[in-house]
Amino acid sequence: MQILDGKKTAEEIKQEIAVEISNLKQKGKKIPHLAAVLVGSNGASLTYVNAKVKACEKVGMKSSLIRLNDTVSEEELLEKVEELNQDEQIDGFIVQLPLPKHIDDKKVTEAILPSKDVDGFHPWNIGKMLLNLPTFLPATPYGILQLIERYNIETTGKHCVVVGRSSIVGSPMANLMSRNTYPGNCTVTLTHSRTVNLAEITRTADILIVALGKPEFITADMVQEGVVIFDVGITRKPDKSKKSGYKLHGDVNYSDVAEKAAFITPVPGGVGPMTIVSLLKNTILAAKGKRKKF
Ligand code: GUN
Repeated sequence: MQILDGKKTAEEIKQEIAVEISNLKQKGKKIPHLAAVLVGSNGASLTYVNAKVKACEKVGMKSSLIRLNDTVSEEELLEKVEELNQDEQIDGFIVQLPLPKHIDDKKVTEAILPSKDVDGFHPWNIGKMLLNLPTFLPATPYGILQLIERYNIETTGKHCVVVGRSSIVGSPMANLMSRNTYPGNCTVTLTHSRTVNLAEITRTADILIVALGKPEFITADMVQEGVVIFDVGITRKPDKSKKSGYKLHGDVNYSDVAEKAAFITPVPGGVGPMTIVSLLKNTILAAKGKRKKF
């Protein structure tokens, strides 16, 4: 079994980005600037957004964190989005999800200028991704593709099973793994909460990507020997032995499954750090006025 070390790989990619930013600085070019909007004070969202902002600082990119009270109206949030759309200093921005119930997240996502939508969530960008046109790939799937590439994992002809059909991870991931390119050329099965006999399907996976938000859901009896596993789950559970007061749990029962796997991402330190560097890469592409074609 080999660990797919997302933390280490993300650090390597950050070094590469830092060199790129330093070159831009030397040439007197504009430094890419990412803005993140956080509504409310959900602990997990605050941690993720802070990690994104900190990563920008680390590589020498500019970042702005815009915090809004959770009582902000949908209209006020849409005004803020429009302000960021118009702000020439900002190359790309994200609105951290989930949003409070009184705000329609689809409306907010659609209000973001597609050329600044570094999350790759806007319908235009999703459409371009489906048509294999250059676009911003959603950060988590993009991070998984980069891990596959950096660890030279064979994908052609493999059976890739995706568990979870969310519009930000499962759905785009299934599409990307079926593309006629590398990483890709997989036969993909997209499974979800209504799938019958899930374990029978996951047992046939050569590559298993799990993003459903149910801690330790995948157990050893659900996988075959030699499987490659990407665990996207990050559920917080209270844990007094931890300084933070909580422990992160993946969707895969790691200690149970790891021995059977050829490659596996740990939680934390697997997919999470790769998601953040993917956002940085998308921001650089936004600053250059380009999009990613994988
Ligand atoms: N919430 C969970 N993941 C993400 C993400 O990648 N982007 C945004 N904007 N919100 C999220």
